[in-house]
Amino acid sequence: MVTTVSPRDLEERALGATVRRDSWWAAPAAVGAGLTAFGIYSFWAAWVNQNYEWGPYLSPFYSPLFKPSWWPLSPAFLILGAPLGFRGTCYYYRKAYYRAFFLDPVACGVGEIPHNYQGERQLFLFQNLHRFFMYLAVIFIGILGWDAILSFIWPVNGVLPGGEMAPGPREFGVGVGSLVLTVNVVLLAGFTFGCHALRHAVGGNLDCVSCARFGRQRYALWRGVTRLNERHMFWAWISLFWVGFADLYVRLVAAGIITDIRIL
Ligand code: FES
Repeated sequence: MVTTVSPRDLEERALGATVRRDSWWAAPAAVGAGLTAFGIYSFWAAWVNQNYEWGPYLSPFYSPLFKPSWWPLSPAFLILGAPLGFRGTCYYYRKAYYRAFFLDPVACGVGEIPHNYQGERQLFLFQNLHRFFMYLAVIFIGILGWDAILSFIWPVNGVLPGGEMAPGPREFGVGVGSLVLTVNVVLLAGFTFGCHALRHAVGGNLDCVSCARFGRQRYALWRGVTRLNERHMFWAWISLFWVGFADLYVRLVAAGIITDIRIL
């Protein structure tokens, strides 16, 4: 059935008013539920300040591992500021949470709370820092990549009952947690290296690629970033889910609730 939309339908409407017949509310509802669940879990995981390392494994929420004496709370609150700022200012996440939490607009072709949009001012000026959070996020990929490498280096004498590495020589080994932490950094890299701001930085700001210094290399980089960027939403969600899962896995092993299986 073809729905006719009159000019009157296109006037600004009350919140939720629409001629759409599809389940337009499903996406913002799912986004709101997903971000709320992740926010509650990650706040709790950061707050408890324990069970974040076991043997060669370190939770990504507590990496890089440091415990400053001047900071009275869990160090995870200092660490998580960077990834939170990166995701909070991400162009995709902005669209997602503006719709889910501010209903502004809640969906295309659906009425919102009438107001005059005046750009991103006051607190929303913070969104302009995305490029700088992107630089930090790239550094974090290096840190988490190093953690993933370390997760393959095991003590020959095994892991002590408290989760510490036994003293003595080390050897190569693979546990399920090694794979969990490796997949984690791969997915986070897929999200980070598909960033719109990175795409602009590596080649999107050029008017003439062949005239620029290192133009060929920059064009290759730009194409690589573009391929990831085309599925930025996918990478955003899969990496968010997996980083929470990676913390949970290390946490359950460290708490003795599950046993890590050594594959090699
Ligand atoms: Fe999403 Fe930069 S735009 S991470």
